[in-house]
Amino acid sequence: MEIFVVPDAAAIGAVAAGIIAAVVRSKPDAVLGVATGGSPLPVYAALAGHRLDLSRVRAFALDEYVGLPAGHPESYGEVVRREVTERLGLDPGHVRVPAGGAEDPERAAVEYDTSIRAAGGIDLQLLGIGHNGHIAFNEPGSALDSRTRVETLAARTREANARYFGSLSEVPERCITQGLGTIMEARHLLLVVHGQDKAAILAEALSGPVSAECPASVLQRHPHVTVVADESAASQLAPEKAGVTVRVAGPAISV
Ligand code: F6R
Repeated sequence: MEIFVVPDAAAIGAVAAGIIAAVVRSKPDAVLGVATGGSPLPVYAALAGHRLDLSRVRAFALDEYVGLPAGHPESYGEVVRREVTERLGLDPGHVRVPAGGAEDPERAAVEYDTSIRAAGGIDLQLLGIGHNGHIAFNEPGSALDSRTRVETLAARTREANARYFGSLSEVPERCITQGLGTIMEARHLLLVVHGQDKAAILAEALSGPVSAECPASVLQRHPHVTVVADESAASQLAPEKAGVTVRVAGPAISV
């Protein structure tokens, strides 16, 4: 695992976008896993500045709410369209988001999982982390080998995401999320984290026991993980574990 510690969210965006750009330059038809929420926004902003040809890139979103009306501005389908597809110039036909509006969401989840495999798997998956350790919408208690499925959002997640809606009651209660096992099949995982409020959970995820109680802890079992965090989010890390390299704005300081 490699951890980059940088000063702020803009620097997170610059470092993470550089990593994604390198993947696309070496594989112009790369399959990217894209995340929503606040953490990846500086990454997409910085990536737009690379002016890459992403017309052959395919992308899969991590998750989607169940039960929002089609075209709801806070549905992840719309967020991905605005922040990723249009901003970065992807072909809309190459971008998939779970079908949260499907008549049979369970079935849609299984089909989504299958479509990721059919695309050859994800080359690089961008991730954020929730305050309770979720990645995608795998809430605490999710099986470490879980597949894409319908999940119930934790109260804490709905509270955190209420900022995007008029009120807490408007935040959907269910979602379709890629499973932890699905995410772990991506060839490279890129976790971006900023803010003091994520410091404790980031430390628990990277240095604590691997457990369904902290879903992001499963990253410790993946062979190729890059974490890009600002100094606040990284402030409680104890990266003395074997195999962890910490870089502060570039040069390695500890192995
Ligand atoms: C979003 C997602 C979530 C977020 C997490 C952190 O697609 O899957 O796991 O990454 O909730 O959200 P922010 O970045 O808004 O703190």
